[in-house]
Amino acid sequence: MKKITLRSGDQMPALGLGTWKADESTYPAIREAIKIGYRHFDCALRYENEKEVGRAIRDAIKEGQVDRQSIWLTSKLWNNAHLSHDVRPGLEESLMNLGMDYLDLYLMHWPVALKPDVIFPDKGSDFLSLEQAPLIDTWRALEECIDAGLCRNIGVSNFSIKKLKDLRNRARIAPTCNQIELHPFLQQKELVEYCLGERIAVTAYSPLGSKDRPARLHQDDEPILLQHPEIRSIAGIHDCTAAQVLIAWALQRGTSVIPKSANPNRLRENYQAQNITLSEDDMRRIGNLDRHYRYIHGAFWTIDGSPYTLTTLWDEPIS
Ligand SMILES: NC(=O)c1ccc[n+]([C@@H]2O[C@H](COP(=O)([O-])OP(=O)(O)OC[C@H]3O[C@@H](n4cnc5c(N)ncnc54)[C@H](OP(=O)(O)O)[C@@H]3O)[C@@H](O)[C@H]2O)c1
Repeated sequence: MKKITLRSGDQMPALGLGTWKADESTYPAIREAIKIGYRHFDCALRYENEKEVGRAIRDAIKEGQVDRQSIWLTSKLWNNAHLSHDVRPGLEESLMNLGMDYLDLYLMHWPVALKPDVIFPDKGSDFLSLEQAPLIDTWRALEECIDAGLCRNIGVSNFSIKKLKDLRNRARIAPTCNQIELHPFLQQKELVEYCLGERIAVTAYSPLGSKDRPARLHQDDEPILLQHPEIRSIAGIHDCTAAQVLIAWALQRGTSVIPKSANPNRLRENYQAQNITLSEDDMRRIGNLDRHYRYIHGAFWTIDGSPYTLTTLWDEPIS
């Protein structure tokens, strides 16, 4: 399996399994995934299934299928735990849910802060601004979690070049990873290039177009990645599926990728995408599909009265 070497020297399996929305299938999906060969699991406190992920991994360890050292476990700090004194308890809650004593990677889920008692905002007063909860303060508390041995690597998610630069300039420990939405409709070439140039690993989320995300995040006229004729045509050339083309493309760009599936056949199909090599012509054709389209658009952080706007969230003009 291809691995990505992080600046700490740790090696993260490039292909991982997403766990958002796996719901009641989480336990069987993780058990099946381990049998297939997956060793990297992407979790978050907010996915509300860390207990099942942890139980599945611990059962596989107990049964001698894997050991903890061969598993890569990522989790994420939720937005309502950005204040310095809430960061370590946030990580400890994930560790308790997972039944583990360390994480391989812990990410700041979003560059957005909520008041401690708010899980999802429904009014402007539910937020803390970045002046009230500066990202660098949250980061410094994450650095202390490394010192305390609770996680081996720390990183961020949904960060722009601007926010990464600000953090890099002030951090003691540089971010090791930026997990962002990436697929042919949202290629973010400049951001990927910046990260890789700074030895910040990039993980591609929603690589298949996240069709099972909640209805409120869907747009009426959204493009369907898995059905795009160009992707299907390339799949035809390689006698593989559209999903496999999307995963192979992400791996060939030098990113890590975490497609979610809770279905045994699709888990296997996605895992086997590692064996596909796209040609230069395939890569060029896929390169032409970019339309800067976000499935996870972030508008839920910019409701009326919020201190965040789409422009300040992504640090880019919004068309
Ligand atoms: N950091 C962040 O803010 C953030 C945001 C979003 C996602 N993520 C992470 O990234 C992971 C992946 O993203 P995602 O869950 O949004 O979406 P995704 O992986 O792009 O898509 C998941 C959807 O694709 C289906 N699927 C999986 N394999 C398939 C295949 N071979 N053929 C056809 N359909 C297939 C799944 O259905 P079945 O399960 O039925 O197969 C599910 O409906 C998440 O689970 C999460 O771990 C992180």
